[in-house]
Amino acid sequence: MIRGDIKALSAYHVPDSSGLIKLDAMENPFPMPESLSKKWSECLTSVDINRYPDAEMAELREKIAKHAGVEANQILLGNGSDEIIQMISMAIDPGTCVVPAPTFVMYDLISRWFKRPVATVPLAKDFSLNANQFLQVCGREKAEVVFLACPNNPTGNLWSKETITKIAKGFDGLLVIDEAYGSFSERTHTHLLASNVLILRTFSKVGWAGLRLGYLIGEADSIAQLNKVRMPYNINVFTQAAASFLLDHFDTFEQQVADIKAERERMMDALESLNGVKTFPSQANFILIRVKDANAVFEQLKSHGILIKNMHRAGGLLVNCLRITIGNPEENNALLTAMDEIIKGVPA
Ligand SMILES: Cc1ncc(COP(=O)(O)O)c(C=O)c1O
Repeated sequence: MIRGDIKALSAYHVPDSSGLIKLDAMENPFPMPESLSKKWSECLTSVDINRYPDAEMAELREKIAKHAGVEANQILLGNGSDEIIQMISMAIDPGTCVVPAPTFVMYDLISRWFKRPVATVPLAKDFSLNANQFLQVCGREKAEVVFLACPNNPTGNLWSKETITKIAKGFDGLLVIDEAYGSFSERTHTHLLASNVLILRTFSKVGWAGLRLGYLIGEADSIAQLNKVRMPYNINVFTQAAASFLLDHFDTFEQQVADIKAERERMMDALESLNGVKTFPSQANFILIRVKDANAVFEQLKSHGILIKNMHRAGGLLVNCLRITIGNPEENNALLTAMDEIIKGVPA
């Protein structure tokens, strides 16, 4: 029988984006350059699909470790970083998960799958996080685990170095610093690694969302323990081969990330200059804005053929907020033109 609390959940909803400019899911808008795609397809056709993948993923873990500046035994791979959040939730003791609000919804959803209580600490109006208040709630709830998305989704901001350090030093449960957007931000946190501090990353946002590959960095012993709840062969042969090949050409994706960051700055200025639009600082590949009527703007953008993410329904600090993923220059221009027309009341 399906548990009552599972029946009460809503499944993770992915809206239909067919025919629309897709600026809703923090994907890299740039396709793989032609110079790479031919060699890449040769690499994919060389894999043995009749054989199970390398279960230990030795070559790939070695490459990712080098990429991250750690040892291979400090790396755990997941079918997307979502899967790693699931592994962590599965392996640790029962006890409350504490997260800021608003933040990435999967921390809450996955905790619920495991009947783990979740306590939230509201962000300030400017989306900053009060470390003392956060630690107080962790103490009160006897928190087992904390997830800090740095930068945060959906707000886009990166909490101060002092805030993150204070929480890392002051919390003795498990702290997961989720750097899904770390490539777009001014700082990462491997210097905070400790027996109770893990760093979570993904290749989804830098251009490989379709591959589903995330990784966790931790001390070797924590990684060895968490590895026990990893599904055998969770990273398929295509993902292993593709990621291994693409890591040898990572400069291509670093350039794309730099281009996205430049577009983010251009979009920030252009959106801010629109009447009735408030932008929030972003260190990610998306921008959160507040408008007078988010539902109306969201629907009208759709009529203009553009899909973004309407955060209004989440309520609280996200009332009338919209999250816009940075696209390629043409997509971004289309969004700016549409926003301008919507604000001026020009029909789609
Ligand atoms: C903060 C954060 N962490 C993790 C993820 C999951 O990424 P993936 O499962 O694609 O690796 C996301 C996706 O949006 C995210 O925003």
